[in-house]
Amino acid sequence: MTEFITLRKPDDFHLHVRDDEVLKCVLPHVARYFKRAMIMPNLSPPVSNIEMALDYKRRIGDAVQNLDFNPKMTLYLTPFTKPEDIKAARNEDSVIAMKYYPAGATTNSEYGVRDIYQCRKVLDEMQKIGLPLSIHGEIVDPDIDVFDREQVFVDTILSKLVADFPQLKIILEHVSTIEGVQFVEETGDNVAATITAHHMLLNRNHMLLNGIKSYLFCFPILKSEKHRKAVLKAAVSGNKKFFLGTDSAPHEIAKKTGLVNAGGIYSSFNALPIYIELFKQQNALEKFEAFSSQFGADFYRLDHNEERIKLERQQVEIPEVLTINQLQLIPLKSGETINWRLVDSETEFSVP
Ligand code: NCD
Ligand code: ZN
Repeated sequence: MTEFITLRKPDDFHLHVRDDEVLKCVLPHVARYFKRAMIMPNLSPPVSNIEMALDYKRRIGDAVQNLDFNPKMTLYLTPFTKPEDIKAARNEDSVIAMKYYPAGATTNSEYGVRDIYQCRKVLDEMQKIGLPLSIHGEIVDPDIDVFDREQVFVDTILSKLVADFPQLKIILEHVSTIEGVQFVEETGDNVAATITAHHMLLNRNHMLLNGIKSYLFCFPILKSEKHRKAVLKAAVSGNKKFFLGTDSAPHEIAKKTGLVNAGGIYSSFNALPIYIELFKQQNALEKFEAFSSQFGADFYRLDHNEERIKLERQQVEIPEVLTINQLQLIPLKSGETINWRLVDSETEFSVP
């Protein structure tokens, strides 16, 4: 008998859609599965004030055309961000977080902050008005091993930040280690984490054995199996501090298969079915809707989506390369199969 799952349409609380042609190509993939997404601001130049965010939102709106999709915006925290920028954000519902990239950590992070304590006044204002800080939690120090970057960040920077700004809402994005998971579990309700499908699914062996797969190279880098297990366990635990954020980060194929490659995994095409299968394998399917469609919205004080989506359990082959107009992207699970397929009816109302 065919198995179905029907759930409140999910939200993706960590998404890169880029701009221009790439934006147009990836948005249809996003909007199939997600009603809303928190759009990362790491364009070049970065989306660092309200005017730029509203302009970017308008470009996304133009690209969406008749798709049913509602972008939520973030502002890039730079050394030049002022408390006034935060006050301005308070009046704009569509801007829901500030994004902190330690300078040098990842794609287009060179505009980021070297020492977060330079931003003390901005953080004070955010804490005051309740604007969350979304954090790329990796230390940037060439002497720190790439696999230790998150753990060292948690130990040295995040723990201090949480102690010094006890009311500040903080999201440890794309948590990828036991230490990151434990930190979030042990701190107050103002601290949460997003979890990607790829950090739940893959460890570093998947990337490095049987031929290096540069399309699985991303930040934070895939870790060893014990870390993957901890991330998986946190996701399926039913703890409201952990919610869905794909960190889908499209880079055209040439930037993923050259001599030197960019970090980022493209997963908007199929992350949702992959998450669902992982929950099923853990006998936790009944907890999936909260992870995908409630906990994140609650953290950001947004309403839950009313729409439902329905998927059936059926094998679907994933192409090795997606060709969309002129753009070629390598999807997560390139050349493999996934186990769930979207059923194109939106009107079923039975939540599992
Ligand atoms: C992201 C990108 O390409 O924008 N890359 C990645 O490896 N995840 C940036 C980020 O979130 O680190
Ligand atoms: Zn990201």
